[in-house]
Formats: sequence, structure tokens, C-alpha cells
Amino acid sequence: MRLDKYICKSTKLSRAQAVECIRDGHVIVNDKAVLIESVQVHENNTITLNGKRLSLRAHRYLMIHKPANTICSNVDEAYPSLFSGLNLDHTQELHVAGRLDADTTGLVLVTDDGRWSFDIIRPQKHCKKVYRVGLSRAIEPGQAALLPEQFAHGLQLQGETELTRPAVLQIINPQEVLLTITEGKYHQVKRMFACVSKRVVKLHREKIGDVSLDINVGEWRYLTATEVDSFRDEP
Ligand code: URA
Repeated sequence: MRLDKYICKSTKLSRAQAVECIRDGHVIVNDKAVLIESVQVHENNTITLNGKRLSLRAHRYLMIHKPANTICSNVDEAYPSLFSGLNLDHTQELHVAGRLDADTTGLVLVTDDGRWSFDIIRPQKHCKKVYRVGLSRAIEPGQAALLPEQFAHGLQLQGETELTRPAVLQIINPQEVLLTITEGKYHQVKRMFACVSKRVVKLHREKIGDVSLDINVGEWRYLTATEVDSFRDEP
């Protein structure tokens, strides 16, 4: 990692302040002053700032219950960032493991550990996601038996070359279903329902892997060690 990034991740300094400290000769790497912020360093190096040894903050792993009309980005755009208004430090270091659309609510996993999040979202992982879906029009009695079969068989999304992976559709009532998918293509759930001539009017993610949403809308909590480890592959 770059030296200036290392300093940001181990102190409260901003990137600009870290650069200033480096250029002013306050940062020593393995007994030598390093004046160039882009130098690559490693956790095994001994890095001091004004004589004090620095070590990286532990990685953070959390869930957020995303409200509607927020975006899974660190900065506000057309809608506010889902981090806005949360009592969380250093949000610029965090990223989400699997985005939701602005109008989708529910479970978002957030971390500063790129390896961990990549392991959740990489397509080969086939990580299960459960969505509660509201439909604009009721499923007809004649469709009710057919739809789960169509989702289990795979659907041909517009612009894709392969069918969707087998998905589990559970009808809760004629306008509400639970859908479990193991991939995460762009607008996947809405496009799957478009394939069967249904329009999604409400979309809420309840579960990713073994981790279920258990906090109120707009809240966040740290994941437990068991939850964090549940996404790691067996050694
Ligand atoms: N599928 C969608 O269409 N939107 C989401 O936000 C998540 C999955």
C-alpha cells in the first residue's frame, strides 16, 4: 500500500495532512526518512510518525439497513449516500459488498477489506441472496405453479448470453414473493421479473449468505466474528 494511505489508515490524518508529514520528513520507514508519499510499504515494515510506531486499524465489517432513496456510494449524488447521517468514522475508507438500487431497501454489507468483499461478490462464489419482492399486479392462479419452475430453470435476461442460474421463488401472496438468487447481475431481480411480464414495485434484501438483516431501517451494526468468517472459504 502507498505510504500516505498507510498513514491515513493508522492515524486520524487526512490524505493531505499525511502527505505534508511525509514531505516534511516526519515519517520513518525501517530507520530511514521517506519523503515520497507514493512509496509502497507493507505492514511488516516499521513505520513511525514523529517517533511513534504506527499500525493499521483493524478491518471493519458491518451491516446497514439501507433506506429507500439512498445510494450505495460514499458520496451524495442524485440521492444521499447510505452513509449520510450514520454515526460512522472514516466512511471514505468503506465500500459495499454488493450494491442495491436507489429504490431498493434492506441488507447491505460494508467493509474496508477488499479481499473479503471480493470473496462475497465474485461470480464464482454463487453467494445466496434473498429478496422480498412486491409486484405491481397479482400472480394469476394459473401462473402460480409455473413461475417457480421458470425461475428454477433459468430465465433469458435481455442482453445476456446465458440463462440465469437456478433461483428459488416462494410465493407469499399473489403480489409478494421471496426470491433466492446466487448471482448479482445489474438490476437482476427487476430484469428477471420483466422476463415473466411482471413489474417489481418493492424490493428488499433480507439475507446474504447466512447473514440476515436484524436491525431497523437506517441503523447499522458490526458483524459478529462468526458472520464475518461465514463468507471465508474453508482453508
Ligand atoms: N436486483 C435489482 O434489480 N435491484 C437491486 O437493487 C438488487 C437486485
